[in-house]
Amino acid sequence: MRTDYCAQLSEKDVGKEVVLCGWANSYRDHGGVIFIDLRDKSGIVQLVCDPADSQEAHKTATRVRDEYVLIAKGKVRLRGEGLENPKLKTGKIEVVVEELCIENESEPLPFLIGDTSVNEEIRLKYRYLDLRTKDAFHTFQLRSKVAIAARNFLDKNGFLEVETPILTKSTPEGARDYLVPSRLYPGEFYALPQSPQLFKQLLMVAGFDRYFQIAKCFRDEDLRADRQPEFTQIDVEMSFCTEDEVIAIAEGLIAEIFKASGIEVKPPFKRMSYAEAMEKYGSDKPDLRFGLELVDVIDIFEDTELKVFREIAQFKNINRIKALPVPGGADRLSRKDIDALTDFVAKFGAKGLAWVKVKAGGELQGPIVKFLSEEEKSALVQRCSVKEGDLIFFGAGKKRVVLDYMGRLRDELAKRLELIDNEKFEFVWIVDFPMFEIEEGEVKIKALHHPFTMPKNIDTEDIEAMTSQAYDIVLNGVELGGGSIRIHKTEIQKRIFEILGISQEEAKEKFGFLLEALQYGAPPHGGFALGFDRLVMLLSKKDNIRDVIAFPKTQKAQCLLTNAPSPVDPEQLKELHIRIREPKKV
Ligand code: AMO
Ligand code: AMP
Repeated sequence: MRTDYCAQLSEKDVGKEVVLCGWANSYRDHGGVIFIDLRDKSGIVQLVCDPADSQEAHKTATRVRDEYVLIAKGKVRLRGEGLENPKLKTGKIEVVVEELCIENESEPLPFLIGDTSVNEEIRLKYRYLDLRTKDAFHTFQLRSKVAIAARNFLDKNGFLEVETPILTKSTPEGARDYLVPSRLYPGEFYALPQSPQLFKQLLMVAGFDRYFQIAKCFRDEDLRADRQPEFTQIDVEMSFCTEDEVIAIAEGLIAEIFKASGIEVKPPFKRMSYAEAMEKYGSDKPDLRFGLELVDVIDIFEDTELKVFREIAQFKNINRIKALPVPGGADRLSRKDIDALTDFVAKFGAKGLAWVKVKAGGELQGPIVKFLSEEEKSALVQRCSVKEGDLIFFGAGKKRVVLDYMGRLRDELAKRLELIDNEKFEFVWIVDFPMFEIEEGEVKIKALHHPFTMPKNIDTEDIEAMTSQAYDIVLNGVELGGGSIRIHKTEIQKRIFEILGISQEEAKEKFGFLLEALQYGAPPHGGFALGFDRLVMLLSKKDNIRDVIAFPKTQKAQCLLTNAPSPVDPEQLKELHIRIREPKKV
């Protein structure tokens, strides 16, 4: 229908006859002459409907309202001096309309297009209107570019795109499954895949050597700003490869994707052991765009007068006392700020948040200083490398709790003190993960990655010291992806199941098909998956994953547009052999 897109017209087109299609972004009646801003995916151009040019078109234009769908035929002309609009890409020109057709009308809008102050629920209900903005279109253009760049890179490197089933069996990523009842088999269910993990391993046993898929994954878990129940992975698996080779492919892929978005990043990326990340940053996904490293000071407090710290310092293996030196913090953080931060860490289990300020001459000041000896004070100043004007926070208690809240404190301080350079992309590989997660007070041992991850030191007696060949790629404090070298030998897999307390029957029932496949010449293999939505979120500098998903779900896993989930016909339930038990009223 059209000859051109609105915003692609320029002075070069002056005199050209054009047909444009789009939406009335706005209209103004200036005493007889009507101006319409016509919008399509490229942007906006001004239409002029003057009865002197066409009475018919002008008459039609009087009926135009916001978001009416228009087809306009006319001629491009210069706006003339003083009438230019520098805010518009096409601000030097306009189109004199000869014929105007209202192709469709629009009801008055529930909100102004692009008004982000409107309640998100309304915007999600009318998501197609919310997506009419230039910003949304750019985001999805970027998303499409990233997918194409990924496909091209992987194709060039010999990876084969293979689809795997959506109606399948439970997969081992550790979240709750979404289940689909079977009509043909009463009482039986499919599970939606949490990832294509097991199938991609089977493709390696099949000898495909290099696989990828832009795969939908489903996890019924607590949602957050970077989590959706239904999300997409760029999923990769390869055979006869070392950990370094998989990491090199992932880095090449990431660099190619960033290049497609106009950003240059330079692999190889930094690597850091899980232990170092936890001890220094209190997180296995540290944000390295800023400093603020945690410092171990537990030994300094062995004989201190400060009773809480002394008692904690007696058990160095299970406890931590961490210092967080904040350069300039003494001047920049008020008592009120410190109190707010104390409340902040309390939410994550902190019993307190001791602090000292460094005054002139290295003199320390703060509520705990009176308990500290001269040696302790000077050891602290030295260990933390602080100077006048700095502040040190202290977290003391159980290792897991202290590392967690001190890591969160680090992020919170960076935000409050504006230490984050938003132009930076700081990648880091977290490696040498422990094989198992052993929760204190819990009998059950869990696999930190998944139970098919190859250990580094399978023969060790101390299972707490067993590390895995797993790796996570972290970007600006967000876990962008992860993967591992897999177990391809039945004996090793058996040993891991044994440690995890998974019986042979249970293993057979859950993953029998994979275990069986391992017995038929499974090659060594490994891979990774990048969170595609998270990647686009970071590239487009959005803070919420919903912004980069065309039809996302709310924090409560609802689709407000379609109203899913929703009740179904009793007839459908009957076919599925399902009877609903009403939830108990509370
Ligand atoms: P993992 O469970 O670490 O690994 O997932 C890989 C990446 O997927 C993204 N991701 C999510 N994105 C949005 N919403 C969610 N709910 C969500 N959950 C995960 C993250 C994460 O890093 N099969 C393994 C990969 C492998 O071992 O090869 C897996 O799925 O960015
Ligand atoms: P108190 O003697 O309980 O008043 O504590 C003195 C200071 O130590 C206060 O600033 C507390 O916030 C802090 N504090 C107490 N317990 C801890 C802890 N486990 N970790 C860090 N700081 C603590």
